[in-house]
Amino acid sequence: MSEQAAARAGGGLPPQHPERGFEGHPLRVLEEGHRQHGPVFGMTVDGVETVLVGTWAGLGELFAAERGRLEVLNTPLVHDLFGRALFNLTGDGHREARRLLRPALAGRALAEYVPALLEVTAPAVARWAETGTQDLYPASRSTTGVMSARVLLGIAPGSAEAKTFATDFERFVAATGAPPGPRRHASGRYWAGRAARRRLHALFAQQAAAAGREGCPGSALARLVAAFNGAPEAVGPLEDHLLALLIAARETTASLVTWCLVELASHRKHASLAAAESREALARPGLLLRREELPVLRAVLAETQRMHSPNLLSVREAVCPMTLGGHRIPAGTRVAYSPSAGHFDPDTFPEPDSFRPGRFLAGQVSGARLWAFGGGAHACLGRPLAELMALTIVACALGQGLPRLPGGPPGRIRYRPAKAPVGPLPFALDLEET
Ligand code: HEM
Repeated sequence: MSEQAAARAGGGLPPQHPERGFEGHPLRVLEEGHRQHGPVFGMTVDGVETVLVGTWAGLGELFAAERGRLEVLNTPLVHDLFGRALFNLTGDGHREARRLLRPALAGRALAEYVPALLEVTAPAVARWAETGTQDLYPASRSTTGVMSARVLLGIAPGSAEAKTFATDFERFVAATGAPPGPRRHASGRYWAGRAARRRLHALFAQQAAAAGREGCPGSALARLVAAFNGAPEAVGPLEDHLLALLIAARETTASLVTWCLVELASHRKHASLAAAESREALARPGLLLRREELPVLRAVLAETQRMHSPNLLSVREAVCPMTLGGHRIPAGTRVAYSPSAGHFDPDTFPEPDSFRPGRFLAGQVSGARLWAFGGGAHACLGRPLAELMALTIVACALGQGLPRLPGGPPGRIRYRPAKAPVGPLPFALDLEET
């Protein structure tokens, strides 16, 4: 009987896996852990004993068992900075807040955002083509930041509000890197971030009032204001949610776009096919919204999600005793899942280390086998908007030319807060020869 089977039979604590190498190659360590022990094992992560859950089956079980048993484990710093944003809420308040936020981030609302998204993205990406960009990830992040400010707050690029927003948002983001515990109170950037948060809340209120007076086409703001008008206190203030949406949207979407362009730079055939679809999409932007259209672009983005999930780990705490993978999980245990820990399973994804978008095109495997956007109670609420933003940027880029990395692919990678190249990554768009 394997160690895993024996532990299951006895309902014991999860088997332990050494954390050696996790800092440098976290996914490799997680994959090896799951290969040896199955969907659930224990490991020290950042000095704290953690139960890791992964694989398709493991995540399915985790998400089904989540409500009432696991809560998102956020640091005191995250609670201070984000207040009662969605990922700091629990129970009915959390459920209701999701219900109020969702219609503005999905479905029919998205059609309204397409012209605004193209309006801000096309010129930004045209500048990449004209001059080349010296660093792809910051350039992508700047674009997703401008797109998010436009769609979530109705802030037009180049306006006075855009400048105020950019300055304070950077101060706020810097504060998320302050010490997570009591030492944060001795940190200058923590206090600068708290002050920036107050000013950002005031700016949100000002934008909301303007949207109420004059309307705000191409933005989710008026819808969100209406949804939160008279909402119960337990759902938290809209300002807290807006700040969380802005943070969630910028880094992760920029990460996905960056890795997509990195892969296309070394897969010219896919890049050419996707470029042909991109030109169609730019001529008929409605195609960006229809799931059955632009199959190559969508397959390329799905394969990028598989190989380069932006998020490495999401962390929970067991609030009562529970069982996962047949193992006993005592109350108070730190539990974490990695969205991509099943994305390299060779039984589901043959040749898992190769970039093969065709696997999604030929129906060999469904995009539903991917967990890049998480699942369960805290599944990504912005997924439809994130996919639309990523599709828009990649289509605009390929509409300008084929991607090239003059200095070669990224040498070093960081995995947190979102997967990104370390150091500058020069990037160019070459006019395609016909
Ligand atoms: C490629 C881009 C994105 C990826 C890969 C991504 C991934 C994720 C993942 C894995 C989670 C679950 C975290 C957990 O289990 O604790 C999550 C949650 C969340 N995401 Fe995203 N996300 C992306 C873009 C966005 C965008 C554009 C928005 C909003 C406009 C957004 C809003 C949120 C929110 C609000 C949550 C928290 C949900 C809750 O706690 O109930 N995300 N995201």
